[in-house]
Amino acid sequence: MGDDAANGSIEGDEIIRLNEVYKIFGPQPRGRAFELARSGVPKNDVQRLSGHVVGLTDVNFSVKRGEIFVVMGLSGSGKSTAIRMVNKLHDVTHGEVLVDGVDVQKLDGTDLQEFRREKMGMVFQHFALFPHRKVIDNVGYGLKVQKVDRSERNEAAMQALSLVGLAAFAEHRPAQLSGGMQQRVGLARALASDPDILLMDEAFSALDPLIRRQMQDEMMEIQAEVHKTILFITHDLNEALRIGDRVCIMKDGAVVQIGTPEEILTEPATGYVAEFVQDVDQGRVIKVHEVMSEPKPIPSDLSLSDALQRVDEIAGRFCCDATGKPVSLLTAADGLRARGMGSNDLKKALRTDFDRCSPDATLNELYAAAGRGLSIAVVDDDGTLVGNLDPRLIMEEMGRVEQLIDGFEREVFM
Ligand SMILES: Nc1ncnc2c1ncn2[C@@H]1O[C@H](COP(=O)(O)OP(=O)(O)O)[C@@H](O)[C@H]1O
Ligand SMILES: [Mg+2]
Repeated sequence: MGDDAANGSIEGDEIIRLNEVYKIFGPQPRGRAFELARSGVPKNDVQRLSGHVVGLTDVNFSVKRGEIFVVMGLSGSGKSTAIRMVNKLHDVTHGEVLVDGVDVQKLDGTDLQEFRREKMGMVFQHFALFPHRKVIDNVGYGLKVQKVDRSERNEAAMQALSLVGLAAFAEHRPAQLSGGMQQRVGLARALASDPDILLMDEAFSALDPLIRRQMQDEMMEIQAEVHKTILFITHDLNEALRIGDRVCIMKDGAVVQIGTPEEILTEPATGYVAEFVQDVDQGRVIKVHEVMSEPKPIPSDLSLSDALQRVDEIAGRFCCDATGKPVSLLTAADGLRARGMGSNDLKKALRTDFDRCSPDATLNELYAAAGRGLSIAVVDDDGTLVGNLDPRLIMEEMGRVEQLIDGFEREVFM
């Protein structure tokens, strides 16, 4: 495993530890189902033989102070159950859960509530914001519960909102914000009470792939500033490898492997992990439709200056014919050059030598096309424009994956 903390030794700098944790769901969790699980009977068989569901079986891991520890696994593998052990939303069937030296299973009532509030901020897939409260009040809500007075909690809330780039939206209602922004409010809410630990359960999983990547990047930037301990749960290995300092892969309630992204990629512990890893190789897994943006074509009768405004931060926008097929492309560079020469005629700035691709193409097929720096037209079988693919995004994606793989023996993937 290449990591002492994963092997059961207590380390000074660890903040969360699960020791031999079992969780059985059913009327008699400590009965036969537990004995079966404990003697290594797989989850499916335990269920068949006892009618009980194995949530976790002999789970051991520790999270170091200041790291992003990602638990990754398919749906039903036990990720949420594991995180609920840390904040004691569930009791364990067997085992020990230590958070900052405290045995959380021994906590109850107000002690437990206080411990949660002080130590942990939580962010979940579903934003769970109060729709009728302003953003700033949503963010400060936890502090209000802690009876922090208004001016102090507003200050903390504004600070947290600044961290996630939403200070300007403090007076808005959640419904006025996009999904990505709402999730950032959720993150700000978790940060507002300045907890040591952030528990994030599929926090970005409901977001569009593009927004999701932005959120991942932002979270890492924030983390570089605030140095929390983050226990992050995802079913997406790409996400896990991108943001995790270490990744714990789970299957059927059990831990399969714990390691750095590099270790997971180069030394998959089992065939199961290796199969996952294969998909990450070379960006093969990333499809165009996952990262393309809405096409928003430019009407060809616009003036050049109006058209340029619509290009905004994207590499270029397409003009379509009456049937919705892309015929030309306006890039910011071409448009600005034409403007510089005194023209306000859109047609003078358009080019037709752009590339097309299918939404089902994979990013590595488009590396060469992306190298030209022009937006790629994503078209369906009829040739209708369905997306706009920013070449910079492809270079970035491929760059990341290659960086990850760079320097490792490529034979692993063959
Ligand atoms: N409250 C519950 N009652 C019964 N079974 C549960 C309960 N919570 C989770 N499970 C079961 O435990 C297993 C792990 O679930 P969960 O931790 O939610 O998985 P994940 O978060 O990885 O999708 C699944 O088989 C699930 O059906
Ligand atoms: Mg879950």
